[in-house]
Amino acid sequence: MNPLDLCTSPGMRAVREMIAKVAVTNATVLLTGESGVGKEVVARAIHALSSRAMNQFLKVNCAALPEELLESELFGHQRGAFTGAYRDKPGKFEQAEKGTLMLDEIGEVPLRLQAKLLHVLQDGEFARVGGERVLETDVRVLAATNRDLESEIRAGRFREDLFYRLNVIEMHIPPLRERRDEIPTLVDYFLKTANTEYRRALDIPASTRRLFLEYAWPGNIRELQNVVKRIVVLGTAAGVSEELAAASGKPSSATSMPMMADAQGRLDLKAIARRAARDAERLAIGDMLERTNWNRAKSARYLGISYKALLYKMVDCELVKKDPKPEAVAAEPEEVAAVAV
Ligand SMILES: Nc1ncnc2c1ncn2[C@@H]1O[C@H](COP(=O)(O)OP(=O)(O)OP(=O)(O)O)[C@@H](O)[C@H]1O
Ligand SMILES: [Mg+2]
Repeated sequence: MNPLDLCTSPGMRAVREMIAKVAVTNATVLLTGESGVGKEVVARAIHALSSRAMNQFLKVNCAALPEELLESELFGHQRGAFTGAYRDKPGKFEQAEKGTLMLDEIGEVPLRLQAKLLHVLQDGEFARVGGERVLETDVRVLAATNRDLESEIRAGRFREDLFYRLNVIEMHIPPLRERRDEIPTLVDYFLKTANTEYRRALDIPASTRRLFLEYAWPGNIRELQNVVKRIVVLGTAAGVSEELAAASGKPSSATSMPMMADAQGRLDLKAIARRAARDAERLAIGDMLERTNWNRAKSARYLGISYKALLYKMVDCELVKKDPKPEAVAAEPEEVAAVAV
């Protein structure tokens, strides 16, 4: 399945239409957008729809390497070009021949290398580090950044001519908070894949799903994916709900004092303590089950409670692993029947 099929908001529909249009060309594309919005997913989709799909899609994270190593990574080097260069090495511009090269975090490329990049983009020519020979390359470049390159230009950190060369087509991927209508579909998709990956059959309660729609998602789709994974791994949405509610400035059901007050507004201290204890137990037990690969006998031993008490508490805390791994079943024939998280 193409992950972009899940992106049905007007902003992403425009992105998808643009992908179809630019894919058939050789144009350089500048993908902009916050961290985690899916810039790489879009870059791969462009490659997959292009006539280069049979050849390589390679990615270089320009922020991950110091200048000399980045230069060698992109353009390769000749033996003896620098200490440690024991043999000739082709760079990504050679390896991606007839394919697509994604230059991720392009805003981090040092000025000297920006000049070399401009040259290869304009003339399709470059030389390996320490090499004399001019090499030709046929690579389509897709660049991505979460920085505002125009303000980088004003600050003297990014070459204007390179910007215009890269920015033949700009595709802006909107943040998740501007396409909230995609959240339910994305959650179902991530839930399904996480359940498969961890061999679980968990669902996410409606109250947590509502919080998903209100949270700001500064880490965008990557954060949503990680949150869903965490719920599946821990077997409970309780901790995540607390955090999202707190971040959205809302009292969550677990900590909300008004929720525990009676009709006259009185608070039942014992009920509050019971609830807090149960939340703490749920976290500790969920964590231990995870660490022991859901081996309940071992978990009970490490937690210093009887096996029966653990089973009881798992039901009480709604901690479930519906689809235990075969070895866990062999060791522990009992099943806990609850389903919700
Ligand atoms: N439409 C989508 N459907 C499913 N998963 C998606 C989608 N878009 C992004 N993702 C997932 O979200 C995560 C982040 O996506 P991606 O790496 O493309 O973001 P990015 O914009 O390149 O982030 P960064 O700026 O941090 O590099 C990845 O795990 C990716 O698989
Ligand atoms: Mg990326």
